[in-house]
Amino acid sequence: MNILEKLGREALFSLEPERAHRIGIKALASGLLPKPSPVVRDGRLATTLAGLSFANPVGVAAGFDKDAEVPDALLDIGFGFTEVGTLTPKPQIGNPAPRVFRLVKEHGVINRLGFNNGGHAAALSRLKSVKTNGPIGVNIGANKDSEDRIADYVSGIERFYSVADYFTVNISSPNTPGLRDLQGQEQLRELLSRVYEARGKQIEAGAETVPIFLKIAPDVAEEDLPGIVEEVKAHGIEGMIVSNTTLSRATLERDPGEAGGLSGRPVFERSTIMLAKTRKLAGPDMAIIGVGGVEDTKTAVTKIKAGADAVQIYTGMIYGGPKIAERICSGLVEFMEQESLSSLTEIRDADVDEWAAKSLR
Ligand code: FNR
Repeated sequence: MNILEKLGREALFSLEPERAHRIGIKALASGLLPKPSPVVRDGRLATTLAGLSFANPVGVAAGFDKDAEVPDALLDIGFGFTEVGTLTPKPQIGNPAPRVFRLVKEHGVINRLGFNNGGHAAALSRLKSVKTNGPIGVNIGANKDSEDRIADYVSGIERFYSVADYFTVNISSPNTPGLRDLQGQEQLRELLSRVYEARGKQIEAGAETVPIFLKIAPDVAEEDLPGIVEEVKAHGIEGMIVSNTTLSRATLERDPGEAGGLSGRPVFERSTIMLAKTRKLAGPDMAIIGVGGVEDTKTAVTKIKAGADAVQIYTGMIYGGPKIAERICSGLVEFMEQESLSSLTEIRDADVDEWAAKSLR
C-alpha cells in the first residue's frame, strides 16, 4: 500500500463501516479509480473452471456488491470475476444497525447484515445494462419471511438466468435464522433438485448451461460435509464455494461480544481447512472457489495449494484497498516465474492432505 492508499484507508476507517462501504461503492461507480497494470490479464493467470474463463483467479466475494451497482468497475480494477448478491426476491432492509464491526488489529470484520438488498427486480435491471461481458456470478438467497425458501432460490435462477455467468446458491449466511438448516442433507437434496430442475427448464427452452455453485459455511460439522458433497455431485451442480463467514470466535484473542459472521484473517485457517476437506471429498474434477481471509499472494497461493481453482476476497479489500487484485496478480506471476510454473493448476492440491488433516479451532 502506498501513502495515498494508506491515507484513504485511514479516512474511510474514521467512518462507520457501512458508511465507508457506501463511499467505496460510489468511488467505484465514479470510474475514477486508477486502471490496474496489464499484469491482471497476463495469459499465465488465465483460469478456467466449470466452463467459465477468468482472466485471473482473483474474484470479488458476495456481499461487497450486493445490489449489482458496480460489477463492471470491480472487473475494471483488476478482478478476474465478481459475484453480486446475495439477492432475495423481495427487497429487505436486514437487521438493525449497527451491524458491521471492524476488528482492526485482527484484520477481521463481524457482520450481521441479514441479507439487506434491493431485491431481484432492481438488480436485474442493472445487470441488463452492464457493459462488460463478465464474468459476473449471481448469488441467490431467500427472504427472511419467506414461506417457501426453496421457491425463492428457484425464482433467483429463473429471474437471472439470462444475465448470470454463474449462480451461487447461498445457504450459509449465519444472519438469516434457520437458513443454514438448508445445509442438512434432506433439505439440501430438495433444494438442489428444485434448483437443478429450474435450470433444466431454461436449457430445454434453448438457453446455455449456466454453472451453479453451492456456498457453504466453515462451521459445517465434519461429519455432515460428506453428505453435502454427495448431494452436490448427485445433482449435477458444478462447484462449491468454501466458505462463508464463521460464528466461531476461537481465533480471536478477545471476543468483542457482537453477534454475526466473522470474516477476514481470523477465518483464514478454518475456511482453508474446510476447503481442503471439501476438495478431498469432491475429487479433482469439481470446481471449487476458496474464500476466507485471502489478503495477499501468500494466502491466495495457500488456498490454491489447499484445493482451490480460484479465490474470492471481501474483507481483504477493506484492509488492503482497491489495488489488492493487482497486487496479488503481480505476486502470482512472480511466484510462477520463481517456481517455473506455466499454470497455477500445477500447484493446486499440493498441500491438500496437510490442510485436510488439521483440526478446526
Ligand atoms: C459477506 N459475505 C456474504 N456472503 C454471501 O454469500 N452473501 C452475502 O450477502 C454476504 N454478505 C457479506 C457482507 C459482509 C460485510 C461481509 C464481510 C461478508 C461473506 C463473504 O462473501 C465471504 O464468504 C466471507 O466474508 C469470507 O471472505 P473474506 O471476507 O474473509 O475475504
